[in-house]
Amino acid sequence: MSIEKTNVDIKTLVKKYNTPLYVYDFNSITERYNELKGAFDGKKSLVAYAVKSNSNLAVIRHLANLGAGADCVSIGEVKRALKAGVSRYRIIFSGVGKKDEEIREALSFGILLINLESEAEMKRVEMIARELEIEARISIRVNPNVDPKTHPYISTGLHENKFGVSIDMAKRMYIYAKKSENLNPIGIHFHIGSQLTELSPIEEACNIVADLVRSLQALDIEIKFFDVGGGIGVVYDDEVTIKPEAYAHVITQAIKGLDVTILSEPGRYMMANSGIFLTRVLYEKVNGDKRFVIIDGAMNDLLRPSLYNAYHKIEAVQKEGEMSLADVVGPVCESGDFLGKDIALPPLEHNDILVVHSVGAYGFTMSSNYNTRGKVAEVAVSDGKDYLIRERETFEDQIRLEESCDSSWQK
Ligand code: LLP
Repeated sequence: MSIEKTNVDIKTLVKKYNTPLYVYDFNSITERYNELKGAFDGKKSLVAYAVKSNSNLAVIRHLANLGAGADCVSIGEVKRALKAGVSRYRIIFSGVGKKDEEIREALSFGILLINLESEAEMKRVEMIARELEIEARISIRVNPNVDPKTHPYISTGLHENKFGVSIDMAKRMYIYAKKSENLNPIGIHFHIGSQLTELSPIEEACNIVADLVRSLQALDIEIKFFDVGGGIGVVYDDEVTIKPEAYAHVITQAIKGLDVTILSEPGRYMMANSGIFLTRVLYEKVNGDKRFVIIDGAMNDLLRPSLYNAYHKIEAVQKEGEMSLADVVGPVCESGDFLGKDIALPPLEHNDILVVHSVGAYGFTMSSNYNTRGKVAEVAVSDGKDYLIRERETFEDQIRLEESCDSSWQK
């Protein structure tokens, strides 16, 4: 999200909603969605937005209105998607460890697909479907053992990662599922990693999985949904990343001759550069030679820098002067609490505003209450107007579930 593009005055937003604050540009989300959906033009496709990247109901609702489906990894996310108006036929439920209650609930909602990640899980789903006297529509997550060339924490398509099953195991599972009265194997899925900037690993994975679909066809197992996962990388700094048309091209080439609907599960692509984080300077200080800018936002609000050493561009709003390098740090009691290291910034004063860029994905959703800090507010900007889409959490909100408990232990 570029500050210039939104037509919204940052200072006005800060005055109205206070800081720290997440702001999302809904027009940018629309553009990203149309760009990706457009790249699949002429092909059967469904863009199932990865809810984990930003699960605010207003964000999901906006995408649902555009026609998006939802890729969910917990029953909570499935319920969010339904609540936000995503059609149940456009919802997929993935994840390596689904609980019985989650499977039962997802099956009773009648969502499009439950994505299986192990043989043991397939047996649980079959058993629960039998109890419910239904046939569960399933897909199987294949681990194609392809190196996605991304950060090890967000790489998922190698055998050393916990996700999916090998090609051989997948085949055995499809054969079993085909015979089962309570399983209907109609999808295949893979997701090799996130923040992918190279096409070749995606192409390799698509080819491996498309070959598997062909060999299943020979066994009379008809796959209808070819789910390529998410993972399209975005520009945080100066990355050269994947173009939607090129992405769609390698997928369509791989599935040539197959009558399948392409499913994709983008999260970061849709959201990262559609969001900014606004934070206020509390103080400046110098320890030895090191300049620190202490802000009111922290690692509990935006964990990516601390967890992955991720880079987010940080700029001061309407501030000039000689730039020098500073670490931008929060008030949390951890040395790992920083939003940026060695960031060039002008001299700053109490209450100056900093903008942290590219935080629309995996920003708010990874935030916590560490240090009893309330979760921050979220605002949507659409056609130049701003709307509060999540209230700032109060102290009372935070202690509510403790206060409501039995306190007789303190007799
Ligand atoms: N589908 C599956 C099965 C996934 O596991 C993920 C992300 C996605 C789709 C969406 O991927 P995307 O299009 O956003 O790359 N917290 C990390 C990212 C974790 C991604 C986990 N899986 C971060 O902040 O970079």
